[in-house]
Amino acid sequence: MPVTDFSAATLDELIARAKAASKNTYSPYSQFPVGAAILTDTADIFAGCNVENASYGLTICAERNAVFQMVAQGKKTIKAVVIYTPTPTPSAPCGACRQVINEFGPEVLIVSVCDGPDVLKKRLAELLPDAFGPGNLT
Ligand code: THU
Repeated sequence: MPVTDFSAATLDELIARAKAASKNTYSPYSQFPVGAAILTDTADIFAGCNVENASYGLTICAERNAVFQMVAQGKKTIKAVVIYTPTPTPSAPCGACRQVINEFGPEVLIVSVCDGPDVLKKRLAELLPDAFGPGNLT
């Protein structure tokens, strides 16, 4: 398990915010609600949910929605991302979300929680090794 550098209370708050966001999901096609909450280096929390579209391909995942909420509010450094799905086992972020999270926090801790006892806790670099990122363009 990676070491967390924020308190258990903060983790609880992130989980609560991700769960609350999952209640706002617009997922009539998949019926798969997802909530995500981001902790920034400034200790702010930004939440997002998945928003689907009749065209299917324009669906945005909860994690990317949360990242964009953060950027829209002027924050750019992610410390942790908590993902909640109301499922028996936790879900790791999809590949597209891993790439977008990498842009703002290659070292971030990803914590996936669900309605069962299992918790998935990994650094982004474990989920997206040898990532292409801003450093490649300099
Ligand atoms: N989804 C997320 O919100 N995050 C992920 O990391 C994986 C998938 C959403 C997209 C779609 O609305 C539904 O889950 C089913 O794929």
